Amino acid sequence: MNDETPEPVRVAMERARAAGFAYSCEPAVGRLLATLAAGVPEGGRVLEIGTGAGVGLAWLVSGLLPRADVTVTTIECDLGRAELVTNGDWPGFVDLRSGDALDLLPGLGAFDLVFADAEAGKQVGLELTIAALSPRGVLVVDDMVPAPAVVWDAEFARRQEAVRRTLLGHERLVAVELAGHGSGVILATAR
Ligand SMILES: C[S@@+](CC[C@H](N)C(=O)[O-])C[C@H]1O[C@@H](n2cnc3c(N)ncnc32)[C@H](O)[C@@H]1O
Repeated sequence: MNDETPEPVRVAMERARAAGFAYSCEPAVGRLLATLAAGVPEGGRVLEIGTGAGVGLAWLVSGLLPRADVTVTTIECDLGRAELVTNGDWPGFVDLRSGDALDLLPGLGAFDLVFADAEAGKQVGLELTIAALSPRGVLVVDDMVPAPAVVWDAEFARRQEAVRRTLLGHERLVAVELAGHGSGVILATAR
């Protein structure tokens, strides 16, 4: 992958734009996802919580191709959005799930890379996400730099801070905050 936006990401960005979906991950976060996906071990498993319009998924896929030995599972609870993404041209290793991540997570097994990008599995049920990490599995969350009060209300800010403290202090995780990267990232590796 070079500096250019990979074609699957370009297509997904256009899908998001056409649908008026404004919550896709930023390119800096996407490039990190692609980079980490490229390092997933042979036969590995990747999970995204919150498919949105498929932009994060497209970055993950871009980091993996031409590999086909890894599965990428992505969960979306909004049926319209899930259908929109289902209509995309995804490689066979992409597993699109429609439903509530909190219901699905306990039955999905363990993952080598997780992008937790919905309220579910992050602000609510973070322990389910941490439990879904394989040993040496890597968890990514973004949007960790506090936004102005017009964007984040006090309750949202409190919940994000709780996520931050949990990830940086969790006994099962070794974590680092990359506050200057995109919207602010925390990377955590399971012991
Ligand atoms: C920030 S967006 C995801 C963006 C996407 N990861 C990307 O980078 O392009 C969050 C998505 O999570 C979905 N979501 C919210 N609650 C959820 C839940 N309980 N289970 C599954 N998806 C959920 C929302 O409908 C929304 O599409």
